[in-house]
Parts: sequence; structure tokens; C-alpha cells
Amino acid sequence: MIRNIALSAATAAALVVAGASAFAAETTVHIEDVTFAHEGPFGKFDRNQLQRGLQVYTEVCSACHGLKFVPIRTLADDGGPQLPEDQVRAYAANLSVNDEASNPQLIDPETGSARTLVPADNFPANHAAGAPDLSLMAKARAGFHGPYGLGLSQLFRGMGGPEYIHALLVGYTGEEKEEAGSVFYENHAFSTGWIKMPPPLSDDQVTYADGTAATVDQMSMDVSSFLMWTAEPKLMDRRETGFKAVLFLIVFASLLYLTNKRIWAGVKGKKTA
Ligand code: HEC
Repeated sequence: MIRNIALSAATAAALVVAGASAFAAETTVHIEDVTFAHEGPFGKFDRNQLQRGLQVYTEVCSACHGLKFVPIRTLADDGGPQLPEDQVRAYAANLSVNDEASNPQLIDPETGSARTLVPADNFPANHAAGAPDLSLMAKARAGFHGPYGLGLSQLFRGMGGPEYIHALLVGYTGEEKEEAGSVFYENHAFSTGWIKMPPPLSDDQVTYADGTAATVDQMSMDVSSFLMWTAEPKLMDRRETGFKAVLFLIVFASLLYLTNKRIWAGVKGKKTA
């Protein structure tokens, strides 16, 4: 008995220590809560923002990162960047395959090099630089935890995947160090504080067709929103279905209530006021 109590006390103590260290690790990472158009129960992706994000991904991130789970044709889908069909075809044909070894399905067996892409293909994978695939990144990372690892802030502010990507892209301090032959860049949003990805964005790196000023912050917002769409392309459909379901349940519950009243009316009798 005493041994059992001692054991559970030791376990509890270990849990408290683990919780405290998780909290300590968390306080060094800073993820700012920024507002995206797709947030909230009635939030919708901003089509222009998704198009700008696609541009940033294509011109900057795709040099090192792939989007191998995203079919190119979905760029025309409702709720997405909604490019016209002919632009999607032209976009696919212009995409270059930067890592042929990771994309055997895109290699033409006759020439041995990558063939021209069509909308039915997925975006190419790219693992050559050791960078992770970005298709699901906005759902794979959480921006908000806490307090004390309870996840309560996730309940109130959402998972914060796109916030994390935004914070990562704007979180470089400018410091770098070399360790075991690799260069690491100091970044306040990255879990260890030092990331192998060199700062990918600088002001005016892309030129937006809609005239939006391409600041690092703006490009980070746009590409984070785009990556939220790649990870959750049916977000708006899902919300709409949920909304209809709730509406149906409200109507159904009222009908049930009235039916119930009617069935029991004979037994309970009418109230005489
Ligand atoms: C020069 C190559 C390069 C470019 C360009 C680049 N990245 Fe990266 N990225 C990397 C590498 C390498 C890693 C892995 C870093 C590590 O684990 O230390 C990485 C990791 C990441 C991660 C994951 C961080 C995590 O939590 O594990 C995200 C998100 C990311 N990059 C987003 C982007 C976005 C968005 C762009 C375009 C604006 C971009 N990257 C451009 C090389 C690049």
C-alpha cells in the first residue's frame, strides 16, 4: 500500500516536472496570433490572397519544398485560388521539376528527364535540399498550446498552423552559426531556436499583379493562407455543411418538441389560466 502511494506520488512528481519543462520550452517560442480571412465560423479563403500565396510558393518556396499531395487541377476549384482552366494548364506546363529523383512518375522514359506537367499531375515533390513537404504543413504544426500543455488556447484560438508558418517566416533574428558543417539561422518561432532554412523572403522578392506591396509580412501571410488551403481545401464546404446540419437540427428539435406536446396533451390536459 505504502509502496503504491509512493509510486503514484513519484509519477505525479515526474508529470509535474515534465509539464513544467514543456511550459519552459514553450515560453521561448513566440507565435503571434494574426487574423486570417478564413478564420471564424463564417470565414472564407480570400481568393486574391490564395493567388498571391501560390505565386510566393512558386517563385520562392518551390526551389526547396514540394507539394506532392496537391493535384494541380485543384487550383481551379471553388473555394481555392480559382484560376481559370486555361491558366491552370499554362501554370502546369511552366512548372519545373527541381528534384527528378523524387518524382519518378514525371520522368519521360525516352528522354530520361522530366516531361511537361499537366493539370492532372500533382505538384512535384522536392526533397533535394532536405526540406519537408509543405502540402499538409499548416495542419501538421500547431501554433498554440498551453497553458501548461492543456491545449486550452487551441480551443479558443484554433490550431494556429498558418500562424506558425507566418511566425516562422518573419521570426528570423539575422544571427547564424555553423555547427557540424551546417549553417543554422536563429529563429524565434522554431522549436529549437535554430533552423537550417535560410531566411527565404526579403522585401519586394515577388511582384504582385494586383499591386499589393510585397513586404516580408505580406508575403508570409499570403503563403501561409495558401498553405492552409492546400492542407484543408474543403474548409469552406465543411463549414457550410456543418451550418446546414445545425439548422436542420434546430428545426427538427422544434418539431419534436411540438409533437411531444401534442401527444401528451390529452393526459396533461389544457392549462386553465
Ligand atoms: C533554400 C531552401 C529553402 C527555401 C527557399 C525555403 N525553405 Fe523552408 N525549409 C528548408 C529546409 C532545409 C527546412 C528544414 C529546416 C530544419 O529542419 O532545420 C525547411 C523547413 C520549413 C518549414 C518547417 C519548419 C518546421 O517546423 O519543421 C516550413 C513551414 C517552411 N520551411 C516553409 C517555407 C516557406 C513557406 C518557404 C517559402 C516562402 C520556404 N520554406 C522556402 C529550406 C528552404
